[in-house]
Amino acid sequence: MTHPDFGDDFERPVAAGGSLVDTLGRPVHDLRISVTDRCNFRCQYCMPKEVFGPGFAFLPRDQVLSFEEITRLTRIFTGLGVRKARLTGGEPTLRSQLPTLVELLKGIDGLEVTLTTNGTLLASQAEALAAAGLDRVTVSLDSLDDATFRQMNDMDFPVHLVLEGIEAAARAGLAPVKVNAVVRRGVNDHTLLDLARHFRGTGHILRFIEFMDVGTTNGWRMDEVVPASELRDRIDAEFRLEPLDPNYTGEVAQRYRYRDGAGEVGFITSVTQPFCATCTRARLSADGKLYTCLFAAGGTDLREILRSGASDEEVEALLRSTWERRSDRYSELRSSETAGLPKVEMSYIGG
Ligand code: GTP
Ligand code: 5AD
Ligand code: SF4
Ligand code: SF4
Repeated sequence: MTHPDFGDDFERPVAAGGSLVDTLGRPVHDLRISVTDRCNFRCQYCMPKEVFGPGFAFLPRDQVLSFEEITRLTRIFTGLGVRKARLTGGEPTLRSQLPTLVELLKGIDGLEVTLTTNGTLLASQAEALAAAGLDRVTVSLDSLDDATFRQMNDMDFPVHLVLEGIEAAARAGLAPVKVNAVVRRGVNDHTLLDLARHFRGTGHILRFIEFMDVGTTNGWRMDEVVPASELRDRIDAEFRLEPLDPNYTGEVAQRYRYRDGAGEVGFITSVTQPFCATCTRARLSADGKLYTCLFAAGGTDLREILRSGASDEEVEALLRSTWERRSDRYSELRSSETAGLPKVEMSYIGG
């Protein structure tokens, strides 16, 4: 079958019972695994202090999936087409013994294992993660301006420690490091050229993310979204850019290269140019719920079936039927009506 977006050459996942696609013909390729719902930052756009304060009830330990449970689920998912696992949080490096999980996941044949982190603990963990087999790392960094950065993480955390984390990751061989910057108009959009200037020529790949209306607590407003086209034009005015082809079908970032050879930069346009048509991402929350969209209101409980003594075949049947029912395309449908719908929080589902 030729898919209008995936074409013939897309590596179609073939499971024991045939290829698995959702109701819109999309296979499952990435599994984003949240390993904890906790974080040491309180970014206003993700875990505002007013909501995630001292009294907030995070998941108790016994409700969080064990490394063995995560590994078993991931193994079953690879039988359905998953080729990349991305560890997320909250902040994934807060989960104790994270390198052990990486090692277990790298024991699964043909699986790429990656990590999205705020970078605060990378300086001390990068080597152990790389030694465990981690393939790549993406670090969130919204500004190079120390005052702006301290204000955005709302924990007064200095930017130089995150920069040290990025360098430690590169030294450990987790290269190229990707750097994600969420852009909010009036908050950090005055510091973006600094970010571009800083990362040009370093081999790290900077990506700008349009501020999204994930969750219900981050006070999202359309007028705070800086369209990626505007950002691209601002950067292009200083450093000439030219578009690059995607690395793979369904890649979320639109890639550009600096014409002078100083590397690449990307734009993640989920508000102004949604990419639901090629969305091949499944998301697993720390307490074992499977979400088929970043904006879903609820997920399918996998922890219960895992802990009930079910066989791999029974678990696979549940994953398969959940994916086959999937019709999500929130970002394409975004409107004043979708704005008020119940949605899972970003820190719980890992972005
Ligand atoms: P690689 O291509 O392997 O580097 O990974 P990635 O870009 O998929 O992972 P990363 O965690 O860096 O994702 C970048 C950001 O894009 C996320 O933090 C989200 O903000 C956004 N994003 C990723 N996947 C989706 C998605 O399915 N839908 C929407 N709306 N946004 C997404
Ligand atoms: N809009 C866009 N990106 C967000 N992230 C967290 N909240 C939002 C939001 N509201 C990003 C983080 C990190 C990734 C996991 O998601 O900065 O890079
Ligand atoms: Fe900030 Fe990421 Fe923590 Fe959310 S999970 S508060 S975006 S560092
Ligand atoms: Fe995928 Fe949902 Fe994001 Fe669309 S809005 S790209 S379906 S996660």
